Amino acid sequence: MITTRRIRPGEGAVLRAVRLAALADTPSAFARTHEEEAQYGVDEWDRRADGWSRGTIGATFFAEHEDVVVGLVGGHRLSERVVELVSMWAAPTARGLGVGRALVDAVLDWAGDDSVELWVTRGNEPAQRLYERCGFVTTDDVQPLPSDPCKDEVRMQLRRR
Ligand SMILES: CC(C)(COP(=O)(O)OP(=O)(O)OC[C@H]1O[C@@H](n2cnc3c(N)ncnc32)[C@H](O)[C@@H]1OP(=O)(O)O)[C@@H](O)C(=O)NCCC(=O)NCCS
Repeated sequence: MITTRRIRPGEGAVLRAVRLAALADTPSAFARTHEEEAQYGVDEWDRRADGWSRGTIGATFFAEHEDVVVGLVGGHRLSERVVELVSMWAAPTARGLGVGRALVDAVLDWAGDDSVELWVTRGNEPAQRLYERCGFVTTDDVQPLPSDPCKDEVRMQLRRR
């Protein structure tokens, strides 16, 4: 069974391992590069884990299967009523099992009634389909992918009020 939970203080090392695995696995899906984030020190990962473990400004959620972390997602508040979903990743060995959907649900729960939006690389069909299945619609907003400006990313949103 796939479960999700919010990151806990002191889990900087787990966050680092999962995030760097995501960046190495699918570089074209993310705004930052593996090279950039591999340079962050232990203190930075611990600071992130701590900050994202509580409060309403930013959050990280892990998906777990039999106590092993198999996915990651982040949420951060763009404005009073809009949350951005970021850093979505399911480990390749756990794909097609509902990890992505469970992680979207974790962010939607955390967002409450607030709208949720995200950027997805154009042509990333698995991710776009996942978000569509969760009710997101593709907008006309397009921008260069920060980690590789040769690619575009498109904005999707889920309006909730
Ligand atoms: C996108 C990603 C998170 C999907 O995770 P997942 O755990 O395999 O997805 P789920 O099992 O929860 O699938 C949910 C829905 O997504 C769709 N989907 C998932 N993978 C798909 C694929 N390869 N092709 C088509 N649709 C797919 C399905 O429609 C599914 O809905 P259904 O079960 O009702 O048919 C995963 O492929 C991944 O980590 N990719 C690399 C990183 C990435 O692209 N992140 C997105 C950044 S915006």
